[in-house]
Amino acid sequence: MQRTVFNNCCLSEPKRLSPGITVCPFRATMNKTKHRYDRIARYYDILEAPMELFFSKWRREFLSKTTGSTLEVGIGTGKSIPFYPENVDLTGIDISSKMVEITRKRLRKHPRPNTRVIQMDAEEMEFADNTFDTVVTACVFCSVPNPVQGLKEIKRVCRNGGRVLMLEHVRSQKKLMGRTMDIMNPLPLHIIGDNINRRTYENLLKAGFNPEQIEVKNLWLDIVKLFHISNSN
Ligand SMILES: C[S@@+](CC[C@H](N)C(=O)[O-])C[C@H]1O[C@@H](n2cnc3c(N)ncnc32)[C@H](O)[C@@H]1O
Repeated sequence: MQRTVFNNCCLSEPKRLSPGITVCPFRATMNKTKHRYDRIARYYDILEAPMELFFSKWRREFLSKTTGSTLEVGIGTGKSIPFYPENVDLTGIDISSKMVEITRKRLRKHPRPNTRVIQMDAEEMEFADNTFDTVVTACVFCSVPNPVQGLKEIKRVCRNGGRVLMLEHVRSQKKLMGRTMDIMNPLPLHIIGDNINRRTYENLLKAGFNPEQIEVKNLWLDIVKLFHISNSN
């Protein structure tokens, strides 16, 4: 009997593992991503400390714009939590159970009302359509294995008229820099599961967001960007 190991996040052809067993390529990459972030969770804040010197300023700026019921996708170790306005009702999700554990520990140390963290796959969220007023991501779409599927899910769970705010690093449009990022990509991907050559704007369009409702601001060169999107379902 043919056994296929995949679920509805899989948009491409299942891959044949051995006679009778096929596996969704994105599902296999998802397990790798989860494993990588579980492995580095304990060291993540130390590894990222130099970057955080810049990112904390940007986090403060864009997270001050969040309102209402807010979802943070790929919350990691919860570094963004202190920057949310007090009245925001916050739900964080992450695929890595170790990351979720660290965020929960952080919340026990620094409690925040109306906040919960759940282990969940961004490509297959368990929330109903139109659940959140705001959806946030910070440096997440470099690591989600199937970014278009993850963005489609964000579009679905964000309410009609809601906002999606994304602080993301992407592939440079500059010819030489972009090419260099392509060549270097396997290194960060292997070590921390981070793709440095993601085309996030193009992926937003593929996920069905309206280009007229996407504002993009360059924060560092054309690599670190803030996406501000009005959602319409
Ligand atoms: C580079 S870290 C960023 C963490 C955090 N947003 C921050 O700003 O520090 C990427 C995070 O995305 C999570 N992630 C990757 N793919 C995911 C998915 N499909 N669903 C949920 N979380 C995912 C990883 O486990 C990791 O915690």
